[in-house]
Order: sequence, then structure tokens, then C-alpha cells
Amino acid sequence: MDGTIGGDLTARARAHSNIALAKYWGKRDATLNVPAVGSISITLDALHTDTTVSFDTGLADDELWLDGREQPVGKVAVVLDLVRERAGLDLRARVVSENNFPTGAGLASSASGFAALAVAATAAAGIEATPRESSVLARRGSASAARSIFGGYAELHAGSSPDGSDSFAEPLLEGEAWPLSVVVAITDPGPKTVSSTAGMQATSASSPFYRPWVESAPAGLDRMRAAILAHDLETVGELAEHSCLALHSIMLTTRPALIYWNAATVAGIHAVRALRAGGLPVYFTIDAGPQLKALCRPEDAAAVSAALAAIPGVAETRTSTLGPAARVVSKS
Ligand code: DP6
Repeated sequence: MDGTIGGDLTARARAHSNIALAKYWGKRDATLNVPAVGSISITLDALHTDTTVSFDTGLADDELWLDGREQPVGKVAVVLDLVRERAGLDLRARVVSENNFPTGAGLASSASGFAALAVAATAAAGIEATPRESSVLARRGSASAARSIFGGYAELHAGSSPDGSDSFAEPLLEGEAWPLSVVVAITDPGPKTVSSTAGMQATSASSPFYRPWVESAPAGLDRMRAAILAHDLETVGELAEHSCLALHSIMLTTRPALIYWNAATVAGIHAVRALRAGGLPVYFTIDAGPQLKALCRPEDAAAVSAALAAIPGVAETRTSTLGPAARVVSKS
């Protein structure tokens, strides 16, 4: 095979970020990156990663370029190795990745990033993968990335097999079937201080509430799945806020404590609750960073955005509708 630059082992893929409405935190198997609990998310149209993978005879090592800067390859090599193994390929790869939003700030850049990588690397290597296989592959990089293989509403199963092969995401509902909007209030565009992977290790090792949280997850997922399939925003929103606050309660009780919120994050929580008290159906969620994401009907997004943008410390808001599945955008 010709692996020179401009040869036929290059592909570019786009994947969108996602926000979990029922959260994952902690691993059943750290090596295979199998989550301890299932999770349910929505894929966002406005936040995406574009990734080009080129397998190239001229490279001695894999390379990762993120937003124009060379970075340590890290778990990217895990995904590339799995693709090389399946394709019977012995070439190193250059991975060039661009986010249209701040990287590593709790906006799920690892989700869109590893989903785009899984799809681009597979296509560049010239092998076929079903969406389920792509989801398992993306999960090896970052568990939330398993969900970004799909658009709309997606569920990632925790699975129970020792090899992690039944821990994949699948579509729950098409975005068009129940359009919702998310307003992201960016309160700090800088990278987070503790990565998700390190944070979850610390939580599972030290929070006294971690086990009960894991045990309560399946019932929460069942309720969330049913509420989404019923297009019931009030129940989805109530469950999403509870899942978020339960997650942050195990973060806060980690030793040392994981406090991802800042003052503007907390002000955002109160602003969302005030809007709701005024009759507007809007609900918050927050991940491993200080950004607040507000879930609402598309027709209410402008009012939600204006309320969040007025909070001191909110640098920017971005409104998104639900986004599509990860896909190959070019192949040469
Ligand atoms: C709080 O998927 O980034 O966003 O699998 O270690 O890469 P790794 O973690 P990651 O964690 C996401 C955590 C979360 C909740 C969620 O998206 O379910």
C-alpha cells in the first residue's frame, strides 16, 4: 500500500460534542476504559471536532496536532494501535485535529475528539466499521466519545463482558424527533485543573458516596430513557439536574475535593431556577468543568441565552441544537 503523503491512506472526519443528561463517572475497567455506569446524552450541533488521520511511510512515530500545536499522543495511540491491528497496517500516523470551541474546559472535547479520531482512522486505514464498532473504538479513547458516534439522543451501555465488547453506545431517539436546544454559558475558557480520568480515579478511591451512586445509576437511566422516549421535558430536566448534582456530590466528597464550579457557575444554577420559577421550562447540567449548560425548547433559547449572558463572569454563551452522527467528510 502507498502510505506517502497524498497517498490513499488519509481521511478526515467530523464528530460533534455531547452532553450527558444521565452522567458517567468512574470505570469498571481502567485499561479497557469501560465505564462503571451507563449514561445518556445529547449530541450538540454547534460544537465539533474535525480530525484528519494520515498513515504515512515517512513517519517514525505517531504525531498529534491539536488546534495547530503538537501534543503528546497519549490515548490517541491506543485507538491508532487498535485500527492498525485490525487493518494489518504497520505505518505511523499524523493526526491533525481542530475544535471549534475551547479544548479541555469541560465542553466534552475528548468526546468529539475521540469519536472523530475513531471514524477518521478507520476510514484512512481502509477498513469498514459498523457504528457499534466505531463506538467501542472511540470508547477506548474516552468513554463519552462512544456516544458522539451517534447524533440526537444516545445511550452508552456499561456492559458486563470482561473484554468490554458490550460497552457501546446506540441511538435512543433521533434529534429531529424531539428537537431541544442547549445554551452553553462559558464561565472560564481555560483548561480544567483535574482531568476527568484522574478525577474519577480519585472519586472511586475516596468518596464514601461513590458505591451508592453506582448502585443507583441503573434506575436513573431507566427513568431518563423513558422520559426521553415520552418527549417529557419536565421529567428529563428534573432527572438531568438530579444526575448532575449527584455527580457533583461525589466530586465534592472526593479527597482532595473536586470543585469544578466557580461563582458564575453557581449564579447560573440560580438563574436557571429563577427562569423556571417564572414559567420558562429550562434545566441546567454541569460536567467536569465550570461551564453551565442549560437545556430548553428551541423557542426559549434566546431568552435563556440573554439571562445567562447577563451573569457577571459569563464570558460567552453558545446556543446549539441537537447534532448529527460522526461521519467521514473526505478520503483520499
Ligand atoms: C462528567 O469521557 O471525558 O462529562 O473516559 O476518562 O476520557 P474518560 O472520561 P470522559 O468523562 C466524562 C465525564 C462527564 C460525564 C459524562 O459525559 O457522562
